[in-house]
Amino acid sequence: MSTRKSGAPCARVACLWIAAAGAFAAGCDDFRQCDAPAPDLQAALPAALSETGLYADFAARAVASDVVAYEPAFELWSDGAEKRRFLRLPPGAKIDTGDQNTWQFPEGTRLWKEFRRDGVLVETRVLAKVGAAPEAWAAVAYVWNAEGTEALAAPGGAEDALGTPHDVPAAGDCMGCHGGTESRVLGFSAIQLAASPGEVDLDEVAARGMLSDPPEDPVVLPGDDAARAALGWLHANCSHCHNQRRPERSGARCYDPQHSFDFTLRVGELRSVEATATYRTAVDKWITPGDPEDSEVVERAERRDPSWPSMPPLGTEVVDEAGLAALRAWIRAL
Ligand code: HEC
Ligand code: HEC
Repeated sequence: MSTRKSGAPCARVACLWIAAAGAFAAGCDDFRQCDAPAPDLQAALPAALSETGLYADFAARAVASDVVAYEPAFELWSDGAEKRRFLRLPPGAKIDTGDQNTWQFPEGTRLWKEFRRDGVLVETRVLAKVGAAPEAWAAVAYVWNAEGTEALAAPGGAEDALGTPHDVPAAGDCMGCHGGTESRVLGFSAIQLAASPGEVDLDEVAARGMLSDPPEDPVVLPGDDAARAALGWLHANCSHCHNQRRPERSGARCYDPQHSFDFTLRVGELRSVEATATYRTAVDKWITPGDPEDSEVVERAERRDPSWPSMPPLGTEVVDEAGLAALRAWIRAL
């Protein structure tokens, strides 16, 4: 069942593409089709952000002392929105990092991501681990009021929130991207923390005892600065869909119908640029060495066209010029 019956423009666009794309996408009427979050999981989320545990003093917006602020090394582009991110683990609990590419968060974990667009505080998204099973996550966005005094759960999302061009996704869309990995958490990972510019990087979370199995070797991305910037950008912006290990789901594979390439950076595949999934699966096919303008990844990322499947196909209406420049520079040097 599609969780979205109508609404955001990208949903309608997706339907057009799938209709045009024909046979390989048979069965999908919306490539973001994913199971609606189960009501019993969602029930764990309070109606107001002030009750989620992010703040010790909501009026002063003072973050609680057991909440950790962090920054991923590579951000998802959200049309220039400024974002802040936070994590809270239950007291004494650790993240199960037995598999460095699939961190499993303990029941009771919460993560928050706050969005400001054009200086306006618009929404704070929450992911909450509400059971032991890997998929037992509740997810919703809280939309702020104009005064910035409260934010309320908006399971249906919001278009052009608070008069900005920012669209808030519906709860049914969250797992479209977050369901792309077994972990469900996309930005708090070994890859994303290793080169984090924030105070809390991979060494720091290990030192704080937050990981069951700290990585044995340093996690270092391969290549020069240009390669790392491009590989990181593709990982953050594309790999939740273009990931050949995306968890199985019943029905047609609507997120990445062809499943022919993979932009995920993985611990264990960092010996060289050539060892990464991106290089192995996309170079000489979707990436033409030395020629960015002949590379389909660039063609897809350099426009936002409702009648043509530009990438990423949701969550953005403005081209990420800096990300694109990094991608072009790397391909030119290949
Ligand atoms: C277009 C894909 C996409 C959609 C849709 C999406 N997210 Fe995310 N989200 C990401 C990515 C990628 C990251 C990590 C990178 C970053 O934070 O910049 C992330 C990060 C987060 C984080 C910080 C923890 C983490 O996983 O890194 C939270 C909390 C979050 N999202 C909640 C939500 C909620 C709730 C919704 C639905 C209302 C949602 N997201 C919809 C892609 C998406
Ligand atoms: C929300 C899921 C999603 C994200 C995120 C996403 N894509 Fe796609 N991508 C798709 C779907 C679905 C198709 C197939 C539809 C089509 O070809 O029109 C596709 C097709 C493609 C294709 C054509 C090859 C093929 O298999 O059809 C390329 C190249 C591509 N994407 C690159 C990217 C790049 C680069 C990014 C990041 C900047 C990205 N995609 C992000 C879902 C996604």
